[in-house]
This record gives sequence, structure tokens and C-alpha cells, in this order.
Amino acid sequence: MQTTNPNSQNLSQSLVLFGALGDLSLRKLLPSLYQLDRAELLHQGTRILGLARKGHNDQEFMHTVEQALHKFVSPEELDSAVIKQFLQRLSYLPLDMTNAEAYRQIETKLGDWCPIVTFYLATPPGIFGDICRNLSAVKLNTPSNRIVLEKPIGHDLESSKVINDTVGEFFNEQQIYRIDHYLGKETVQNLLALRFANPIFADLWNHDHISYVEITVAEEVGIEGRWGYFDDAGQMRDMVQNHLLQLLCLVAMEPPSRLDADSIRNEKVRVLEALQPMQPNTINKHLVRGQYGDGHYQAKSTPGYLNEADANTESQTETYMALRADIANWRWAGTPFYLRTGKRMRSKLTEIIIHFRPSRHFIFDADQEALAKNKLVIRLQPYEGISLQTLTKEQGIDKGMRLRRDPLHLDFAQTQGHIRIPDAYERLLSEALKGNQSLFVRRDEVEAAWQWCDQIRATWQQSASPLHTYPAGTQGPHAAYDMIEAFGHRWYEHC
Ligand code: BG6
Repeated sequence: MQTTNPNSQNLSQSLVLFGALGDLSLRKLLPSLYQLDRAELLHQGTRILGLARKGHNDQEFMHTVEQALHKFVSPEELDSAVIKQFLQRLSYLPLDMTNAEAYRQIETKLGDWCPIVTFYLATPPGIFGDICRNLSAVKLNTPSNRIVLEKPIGHDLESSKVINDTVGEFFNEQQIYRIDHYLGKETVQNLLALRFANPIFADLWNHDHISYVEITVAEEVGIEGRWGYFDDAGQMRDMVQNHLLQLLCLVAMEPPSRLDADSIRNEKVRVLEALQPMQPNTINKHLVRGQYGDGHYQAKSTPGYLNEADANTESQTETYMALRADIANWRWAGTPFYLRTGKRMRSKLTEIIIHFRPSRHFIFDADQEALAKNKLVIRLQPYEGISLQTLTKEQGIDKGMRLRRDPLHLDFAQTQGHIRIPDAYERLLSEALKGNQSLFVRRDEVEAAWQWCDQIRATWQQSASPLHTYPAGTQGPHAAYDMIEAFGHRWYEHC
């Protein structure tokens, strides 16, 4: 099949995937690469080398990938000609990633492939250092090569510095692409367009007009066999330190002077640095930790966190967090950002709600004043869209000037329905191959985010913050509603 898309001309052509038989690779990365191929966004010469411990050969790897495509790509998106073309791009090498000698085989295998190589490390971060050192030993860290790192980058500031220092010995910052897959989501990208391409919002985007901001990332999934990892991490490290803080940065940052990677990342770091630490005497008013107990999910009874397979029944790890973040700068002083995220919630939902201040002088029926607060709802998943809650007059002569709340609604599936919304990893892989770092996290961002989270974790440990239980399949602990209401605000579903 001939490659025709002009964007594909920019792509580097060799991708080396460490951890190629792992869950992330088979469920997300290889299906995303297939989708890029289907969209004619992979250059004809692009080759992909999978690396993992298992003693597969090329044919067995292709077979495994083909099965994964049938499992993780929707049937209407499976095209046998593209599958065939995609599989032909693949090679495989069994490799002990910690064995320096074995890396010569990568060099040999790459042979006459395109010399610009992107190394994607879909492996535990504990071996990032070994991989980089070993790549350097066989001189595969040339300036044109890139390295993509999956999260988590450490479990606190210190451990993230160790990882960043080690990787940094062999690759410079311009070569390092740290993944936060939320940055690849289409609607997250749309935040930039919404904020900076629409002057009506740009001029209202500050504490004078915005009363508070709410960021909710509710997940239906529980621990899904990841108990060992998750119990050390908890929802604060697993979700807040990265995904929620990235969303907060995109909502709160100053307009970058240009759309290039460093202009955007400079502004995000400024927001992270302006986040206020939490104080021991007020932390329990600003933060709620929860853990799901036994409950119901999709009409079936579901075990609580402590009853999951392999659980430590004494665990105090949070599966839910709600907190108030304050940004100490001119734009946001006095406008709190409430973040909330939990596992085993009623439904999957990611949304950002901008709660505007009420009008200064209300001339309609006084009992309707509470209605008069516009809200901008940015729905990231599912059903991507944006809606602005506005007030209109109820129709009818008998209705006088009674008001009602109606949304001005933009549903991306309807407005651009013929265009499928790509998975976050498709965009991220495509950008990494093009060498565009805008959607990847810079070292100082990761570290500023850890610094803020570490301080909060230390403070909640010192203040013995309670852990509230919520039944699986619900909207989280009541305490989270009490927390926000104590500040005179409400979560969107209660507005
Ligand atoms: C990952 C977390 O980074 O993001 C998971 O490790 C979480 O625990 C996932 O479930 C959520 O991603 P998404 O795209 O499904 O919202």
C-alpha cells in the first residue's frame, strides 16, 4: 500500500519497543501503531523491533500481535491489507534487558534500518537506568535518537530524580519523551484551542470571573490485578501527581507565547510551582482520602479493596482522593481548584467544570438567583464535548420572566462525527516519532509535581488524616461533599 499522507514524511522510521509483550504494548501501543498505519501516518520504511524476555521469533511475535489487534481493535477498524502491511514492519528479539552484552544484537538487528531510532520503554522504571546505560555502551544513544519513558517516573521526588539523573547521563532532555497519556487525549488538546483561540473565554479566565474549578476523573475500574503496584502508589501517586495535575496546568497556565514544546511547558511549570503546600492544621478540611469497600458494580456484588485478590487486609492506601488546591498567583488567588478521582466509582467520567461567578446585580425573581451561575463543562471522556450552561426564559405567556438553565452544547461526535477520535497513544506515538515534545512532560514538571504531592502526603501522615470508606460502584465518600460544601461550593452533580 502506498503511503500518501504528507504528515508521514516527517516520521522517523525505526521504533524499538522494550516490553513488547507486556499488557501496555499489546493492549495500547501496537494497536495504536496499527491505527497510524491505517491512517497512512507511518512512513513506508518504518520498522518496529519488539524486545522482551520471551524466546519468540519474528513469526511468533507477529502472530501474538495479530491476535492482540483482533482483541483490542474494533472489528470495523480491522483491515486485512493494513494488518498484513503492519505485521511486515515487525521484528522481534528475545532480550535480557539488564545484560549489556545482549545489546549488540539490537545493533545487528537494526542493520540497515533508518538510523533515527525511537526507543520506547514500556517497562518498569526500575530498569530504565540499565536500558539507557546498555544502549549507550553500544552507542545507540546518538543525538538523533529518542527515548520514550512510561510513567511512573519514580514514586516520590527523590526516586524520580534518581531515574531522571540516570537517564540524563545518556540522553539529553531534548531526546527524552516522558509520557502522561492524558496529554494525548483529543479533548485535552482541545483545552488549548478553547482557551487560546476563543477570546470570549480568554478574557474571562481568571479569579474575577471564575468562582472555582472542578476536575473530576472517576474510574469504573478497580485494581485489575495490579494490587502490588497500586498499594504502594495509591490514587494520589497513580492519578493526581500526573494526570490531574496536568489537567490543572492546562486550565490554569498563562497563555504561552508560542505553541512550541518549551513555551507550553514553561507555563505549566509556573503553575506547579505556584501550588500552595497544605498545612497540618487545615489539611483535613482541604483533603479527603477514601478506600472502596464491598459494593455493587454493573449489578454484581464487587469486593472491596481489602478483599481483592492478594490484598493486604490492613492496607490504608487510598483509592479515592478529593482535595482543594490553591494557586498562589495573580490570575487565580481566591479561586480554588477542586480535584477528585477514585477507582470503582459508579461510572467512568473525566470532566472539568469551570464555575463562573454569579452576576453582580440580579434583576429576576430572587428565588432563582442560585440558578444564575454559568458553568462551562468540558467533557474529556466518554462522549467528548463542551457545554456552556446558560440561562434562558421559560417559554409561555404564563411564565413571565421565569428562568431556566439550558446548555449550549457541542458534542464532538456529532459535529465531527465522521472523524474517529484517536486513542491518546496514537497521537503520542506519532508526535514522538515526529520529534515533537509538546505533549510530553519535562523533567522540571515531573519534579515540581512530586514536590507538591510529597508535601501533602507527608502532611497527611503527620496529621493522621482519616481514610473514609465508600461502597464500590458509588460516587465516593460523603466526606468529599462535606469538604467542598464547607467552602460554600458544590460538586457539579449537586449544583
Ligand atoms: C493510568 C493509571 O495512568 O491511568 C491507571 O495507572 C488508570 O490506574 C489509568 O486506571 C486511567 O486512564 P484512562 O485513560 O482510562 O482515564
